[in-house]
Amino acid sequence: MLAATAVSQSASDPLAGLVLGDVPKPEPRPGWSLVRVVASSLNMHDVWTLRGVGHPAERLPIILGCDAAGYDENGNEVLVHPVIADPNAGRGDETLDPGRALLSEQHDGAFAEYLSVPTRNLIPKPSWLSFDEAACLPVAWGTAYRMLFTQAGVRAGDRVLVQGAGGGVASAAIKLCVAAGAVVYATSRSPDKCEEALSWGARAAVATGERLPERVDVVIETVGEATWSHSLKSLRPGGTIVIAGATSGTNPPADLGRVFYLQQRILGSTGCTRSELVSLLKLMDATGLRPVIDRTLPLTEIHKGIQLMLDGRLTGKLIIRPTDSPR
Ligand SMILES: NC(=O)c1ccc[n+]([C@@H]2O[C@H](COP(=O)([O-])OP(=O)(O)OC[C@H]3O[C@@H](n4cnc5c(N)ncnc54)[C@H](OP(=O)(O)O)[C@@H]3O)[C@@H](O)[C@H]2O)c1
Repeated sequence: MLAATAVSQSASDPLAGLVLGDVPKPEPRPGWSLVRVVASSLNMHDVWTLRGVGHPAERLPIILGCDAAGYDENGNEVLVHPVIADPNAGRGDETLDPGRALLSEQHDGAFAEYLSVPTRNLIPKPSWLSFDEAACLPVAWGTAYRMLFTQAGVRAGDRVLVQGAGGGVASAAIKLCVAAGAVVYATSRSPDKCEEALSWGARAAVATGERLPERVDVVIETVGEATWSHSLKSLRPGGTIVIAGATSGTNPPADLGRVFYLQQRILGSTGCTRSELVSLLKLMDATGLRPVIDRTLPLTEIHKGIQLMLDGRLTGKLIIRPTDSPR
C-alpha cells in the first residue's frame, strides 16, 4: 500500500526525512481493527516528528498521520480516536495514562491506504459529516474541545482570546467558542486570517500582540513564545490560560510576579478522551458547526502540504487523501 513514512529527522530540513512509497499492509492483530483510510489531515505534530521534537529517532521509520476517517473491516464508516492508551492507567482519563501514545508516535499512522488501531478507538462516523470533515476532528478539534470545556469550563458570555487564528486548533477553538455563546477575540500575523476569524463569529481579530478591547476570562494558547506575554497581559485577574502547544518556542519569560499577583491559572492540555470526541460530535450535530478546511491534497502531494504548513499559509485544516474515494 502507499504510505508516507518518516525515515529520518532534521530540525532545518524536516521534509528530507519523509518518504512516499509502498509498504506492507498492516497484519491482523487481536483486539485491533483494520481501517481503510478515506481521509486524514495534517497536524503540526507531523512536522515535530520530522524535526525530531518529542519523537526519539529509535522509533523510526514510522508512518505519519494522527487523524483518520474511513471504513472498518465490516464496511462501517468510522473516525479514529487517536490516543492509544488505557483509561484505567489514567484514573479514568486515557490522556493521563503515562504510557499513552498519539497515533504515529508508537504505532503507524494514517498517511496510508490502511491503518490498524485498537477497536476501542473506532467511533461511528455520523452520516451528516463528510469523511474530509471527520478527518479534521480527532486531534485539532478534540484538543480545542477539551481545552475550552473540560479545562477552562467556558460558558456563554465568557470572554475568550484565541491566539494564532489560522491554526487547526485555533480555528476550531474560535468556532466552538462562538457556538457556545462566548465572546471571542482572535489574533493572527495575517490580515486575511483576521478577516476569516471575523467571518467565523469572532467579535474582533487583531494583529499578533495588539491590545484587546477588554481583558478576557480565558486564553487559548497554542503559539507559545511569540504570544505568551500578550496572553498573560490580556487575562483578567483570576482568569485561565489553557496551553496545548508552543509552535514558536517553549521558553518565554515566565513573568511570575504577574501570575501570582493576579492569581492567574495556567493549565496544560493534551489531546482528548474518546468520550470528549463523542461529545464534540454531539455538539456539532446540535449546532451545525463544521470544520474549516483549507484544501484537500492527494497523499502523493504530502510534501507540498507540509511545506504550506511550514510557511504558515494554511487557514484551518489540510486534508490528505490516500486514494480518490468519495468524500
Ligand atoms: N497538546 C496537544 O494535544 C496538541 C494537539 C494539537 C496541536 N498541538 C500543538 O499546537 C500547536 C498548533 O497546532 P496546529 O496543528 O493547530 O498547527 P497549525 O495549524 O500550523 O497552527 C499554528 C498557528 O500558530 C500561529 N503561529 C505560528 N507561528 C507563529 C508565530 N511565530 N507568531 C505568531 N503566531 C504563530 C499561526 O497563526 P497565524 O498564522 O494565524 O498567525 C498558526 O496558524 C502546535 O505546536 C501543535 O504541536 C498540541
